[in-house]
Amino acid sequence: MTTTSFAVDAALGGVPARELAATYGTPLFVIDLDVFDLEVDRVVRSCAPHGITVGYAAKAFLCAALAEHLAATPLRLDVCSLGELVTAERGGFPAERMYFHGCGKTAEELQAIVDRRVAFDVIDNDEELARLAAITSPADPVDVMLRINTGIEAHTHAFIRTGGENTKFGFALAAAPAAFARIAALPQLRLIGLHGHIGSQIAETAPFVANLDELLGLARIARASGHPVAEIICGGGIGVEEGPDDPRPVDIDELTAALEGRARGTGLRLAVEPGRAVIARAGSSLYRVMAVKTQGRRRFVIVDGGMADNPRPLLYGARHLPEVVAARAAGPDEPATLAGRSCENDEMGDYVLPRDLAAGDLIALRITGAYTYSMASNYNRFGRPAVVFVRDGHHRRVIRAETADDVMRLDVV
Ligand code: LLP
Repeated sequence: MTTTSFAVDAALGGVPARELAATYGTPLFVIDLDVFDLEVDRVVRSCAPHGITVGYAAKAFLCAALAEHLAATPLRLDVCSLGELVTAERGGFPAERMYFHGCGKTAEELQAIVDRRVAFDVIDNDEELARLAAITSPADPVDVMLRINTGIEAHTHAFIRTGGENTKFGFALAAAPAAFARIAALPQLRLIGLHGHIGSQIAETAPFVANLDELLGLARIARASGHPVAEIICGGGIGVEEGPDDPRPVDIDELTAALEGRARGTGLRLAVEPGRAVIARAGSSLYRVMAVKTQGRRRFVIVDGGMADNPRPLLYGARHLPEVVAARAAGPDEPATLAGRSCENDEMGDYVLPRDLAAGDLIALRITGAYTYSMASNYNRFGRPAVVFVRDGHHRRVIRAETADDVMRLDVV
């Protein structure tokens, strides 16, 4: 049970929460651009001295306005669907700074990789290799990387562990040399790098280093057989303390120094592709309290969002720290369960909240920037919330809230 912080009239990015709620309604997803820029800067500053390139994993959160903002940073962009690609394009993010992930790319996506001249495709499996080869020609070769499953397991939630022998991603270490040989026989594909992402919300440096060591060994083999392998992407996965239950995150400076230490002298360029570490702290979810009630021995604070706009608590047991941002005077606290309004038990955690909390008060869940809006759904046919950017007391809507008509827009009546 964690005590929440309390402010009678707190602000997000210098804008009073009350003003945001009054202007855009709730639930509301708020991105503080100053925090975002600080995080980008922190990652780039840690990577640049070691010659490590940074890509942002769009899956953590992307909209056209963020893509536009990212275009002005030195970051590349990892996209994994046509939707992410088109969003980035609409924001003016250049295709030559994007690369494409995915273990089940559609024909349309592979064609988009070729036609849009995305920097490179990260090939996950033999079928994809063959399908890409079939739509490309030696006269206009396409750069590719291979996603490698090094078998290294990260200690994180099973749902977000993407490496390890028994996971679906990439080419197993033992299968990689055969893939190198297949590419060698396909002049329309140029193998420029290897990729290994082992999971998300990782709190230690050791698995990243172990993963890199395996990739370095493979890169040597690929280069010895003539492939122009020049880069290794060590994946994303840098952990963030998003809530009271999370372990202390990896020290990014320790991580980047350790990675460079292993690659020094190999002539290979390293890259990372964090999503969470860049966007998590910049985001907050703002809710209005709809009801406070005591049932049995428990007190429930029911808000106007829940598992539809933030499935992470139910899916991963994630706990994001609530902050009461607009209420009457702070009274004594008492335990309460924060619950959503979906038609099932979408509890968001047990906390200690002000006893006098009442309908109409505002609560912000902090550090929800990563994978919250991006995994929101229309469960219960709720509309997804609006997204606003805040900075220096200014606010700007970048995605409007879905109305019931929006929710209906795909129905064929
Ligand atoms: N690269 C690849 C190939 C990935 O699959 C991922 C995340 C990333 C980079 C970025 O990882 P990050 O730096 O954000 O940890 N929905 C889950 C997270 C799933 C992450 C999957 N892959 C959550 O809400 O925690």
